[in-house]
Amino acid sequence: MDALRIENLTTAFNTEKGIIKAIDGISLNLRKGTILGIAGESGAGKSVLANTIMGLVKPSEGKVLLDGIDILSLSEDEMRAIRGKRIAMIGQDPSSALNPFLRISTEFFDVMTIHEKMKKTEALEKARKLLHSAGLPEPERILRMYPHQLSGGMKQRVMIAIALSMGADILIADEPTASLDATTERQILNLLVSLKEKRSILLITHSLDVLESIADETAVIYSGTIVEKGTTEQILKTPKHPYTKGLIDAIPRPGSLPIPIAGSCKREDSGCAFSGRCPLRMEICSQHKPKNRKLRDGREIACHLFQEERDG
Ligand SMILES: Nc1ncnc2c1ncn2[C@@H]1O[C@H](COP(=O)(O)OP(=O)(O)OP(=O)(O)O)[C@@H](O)[C@H]1O
Ligand SMILES: [Mg+2]
Repeated sequence: MDALRIENLTTAFNTEKGIIKAIDGISLNLRKGTILGIAGESGAGKSVLANTIMGLVKPSEGKVLLDGIDILSLSEDEMRAIRGKRIAMIGQDPSSALNPFLRISTEFFDVMTIHEKMKKTEALEKARKLLHSAGLPEPERILRMYPHQLSGGMKQRVMIAIALSMGADILIADEPTASLDATTERQILNLLVSLKEKRSILLITHSLDVLESIADETAVIYSGTIVEKGTTEQILKTPKHPYTKGLIDAIPRPGSLPIPIAGSCKREDSGCAFSGRCPLRMEICSQHKPKNRKLRDGREIACHLFQEERDG
């Protein structure tokens, strides 16, 4: 069962250099009770994808289907109800998401009473439970605090609890651990795994190793398009797309130096977006855009090395 289906989603911006498609024909299914990882470099279009799904940026094409309804065709009022009640988002910087002048209790109360009238005691009781299940053992104390009294990891736990306070069953986490140290990062990722029993999560990251043992499936995004998608194990253990391989070689590991992909994330004007940086580039790559193909092992790949229906 799919919690969310994204079909051919395209979002373009009018810039000085002309119209740029920040995301270009993205199709993805987020299965119920799973974590779908989205990995790609800075500028790949990850946040534009998240903001488009949330209805914060208008797409030029495509659908986001929730229970069979295209939520992007809803009115702003209807969309506001979906935001929070069905789909919630957390970002990479919990410090800037929390108002420094408000106690955590007020943050909760403000969010929980946007749509529904709720007694303060009722809201705070719910907030206490949410904070506790977000791994904060003394919720009463946290509720009285101001953001500066909390560590980065605690703030992100608070943000997750606030995001879920309106009952969303889909969570979009846009680089939720980017501002945290490695130990705190693992704790927050484990918290996300514990949430997926009742929810479905889209987990966005620039580093593939974050997704290891966390995401069920992984999609690799390059310059606005998905280049490879499969189970996280397939993507990490047997990557096939040259870009996925490059991302994996760029992960720092003990005993070997990471090899960064030469150049920076940019799209070629014609053909495969990655062709300018691809070590296995062929003539066709700069001429034709590769189609998305499903291989026998179930993964999908858009690369001219895999255009025939064969198992790599
Ligand atoms: N409002 C906008 N107007 C014009 N261009 C935009 C706008 N928002 C994003 N872009 C462009 O879209 C592309 C994708 O941006 P996006 O923020 O989605 O990248 P990202 O993958 O989230 O990167 P990062 O890892 O740094 O967060 C970039 O080239 C960016 O400059
Ligand atoms: Mg981003």
